[in-house]
Amino acid sequence: MKLTILGGGGFRVPLVYGALLGDHADGRVTRVVLHDVDAGRLRAIARVLAERAAGVPDAPEVTATTDLDEALRGADFVFSAIRVGGLKGRADDERIALAEGVLGQETVGAGGIAFGLRTVPVAVDIARRVARLAPDAWVINFTNPAGLVTEAMSRHLGDRVIGICDSPVGLGRRVARVLGARPAEAWVDYVGLNHLGWVRGLRIAGRDELPRLLADPVLLGSFEEGRLFGADWLRSLGAIPNEYLHYYYFNREAVHAYREAGRTRGAFLRDQQAGFYAGVADPAVPALELWDRTRAEREATYMAENREAAGAGEREAEDLSGGYENVALALMRAIARDERATLILNVRNRGTLAELDGDAVIEVPCLVDAHGAHPVAVDPLPGHATGLVCAVKAVEREVLDAARSGSRAAAVKAFALHPLVDSVNVARRLVDGYTAVHPGLAYLR
Ligand code: G6P
Ligand code: MN
Repeated sequence: MKLTILGGGGFRVPLVYGALLGDHADGRVTRVVLHDVDAGRLRAIARVLAERAAGVPDAPEVTATTDLDEALRGADFVFSAIRVGGLKGRADDERIALAEGVLGQETVGAGGIAFGLRTVPVAVDIARRVARLAPDAWVINFTNPAGLVTEAMSRHLGDRVIGICDSPVGLGRRVARVLGARPAEAWVDYVGLNHLGWVRGLRIAGRDELPRLLADPVLLGSFEEGRLFGADWLRSLGAIPNEYLHYYYFNREAVHAYREAGRTRGAFLRDQQAGFYAGVADPAVPALELWDRTRAEREATYMAENREAAGAGEREAEDLSGGYENVALALMRAIARDERATLILNVRNRGTLAELDGDAVIEVPCLVDAHGAHPVAVDPLPGHATGLVCAVKAVEREVLDAARSGSRAAAVKAFALHPLVDSVNVARRLVDGYTAVHPGLAYLR
């Protein structure tokens, strides 16, 4: 089986490869093709993978190329984990939004829109090439903003593109843990859009255990989302939101914390990663060791500003790893070997949430088998959550429209309609600011 990784020089590729190294069963991935637009990044990551594979006799063979069509031809699975504009682009997204007093996070608010506007055209080009060169491949989309990008690709690939994110999995695992259940034996009732979903129940042996959690302040204070949102607010909601909802429910504090921070997340990662790639270019530097140290620092500082704003303290050791790559591997195994699994994924709605049309990509528990990911019926969302989901989906649709038509007016509309952008004038200035710095937005006229 051939797996092609787009964004193959990306920092988290060794996590995926590490998961593959632990898979020795028949039908496993035997060939990995890394594709990247940057040959230097490919060389760096290839070094890390080679060190990781040392001593594993059936390690998947790794090759690297900067030729996209060559990478795609004959692929059984395609992972797309690209970052159009790089981490410099992410830092610019944050800076320009914060200068207007609004959030510039890579997936939420103005930053997510800017990132989406420059990523969608590239993702659509990839989807078209996959349809032509590897029509039987399954595409697993990691590329953020994952829900929006998956929807853009689904217009060309239908249900053969599936979006993934580790944050709902991590949330489900934490809620199960504090309730004393093994994650595998719990049914997590979760739905929404990517980075905009809620756990509304957690059933163990047919019983919903979430009310027990919501009633217990000590349990609520014992995990990440509980500390981030606070017991009172979670009780008011009657649900546990995805951590990214902190940017909505505590927007003022999050924006303030980001403005006060010496460096935004994007700027920190831009510098941190530049150091890593420069370091690995030196053959005397042990690549895997440097990668692992850099990874640990990245994970420990994830959402640090939000945690600080909430007084939530440090992340817990068990939350620091084991999400991203395991979702990807579980999804591939389920499809390739018809090993039935239930995973929270980004797929087309097909009637699951009545308020959205059938083609809208949502994040929802799915049964996965050789035929793909099938969304499971869920209870409707409460009014306020439906309102947010519909508002953000409308924004995503404007982004898709702008990317298709090149219309600057549609781009302004996307920013202006977002619940976290508070004026049409701000939206106009954001479009001006973003088009001035991002070559990837030159298509907007
Ligand atoms: C979470 C999110 C991902 C994001 C990742 C890394 O897992 O769900 O979408 O890519 O964190 O975030 P970072 O800030 O380290 O790039
Ligand atoms: Mn995510």
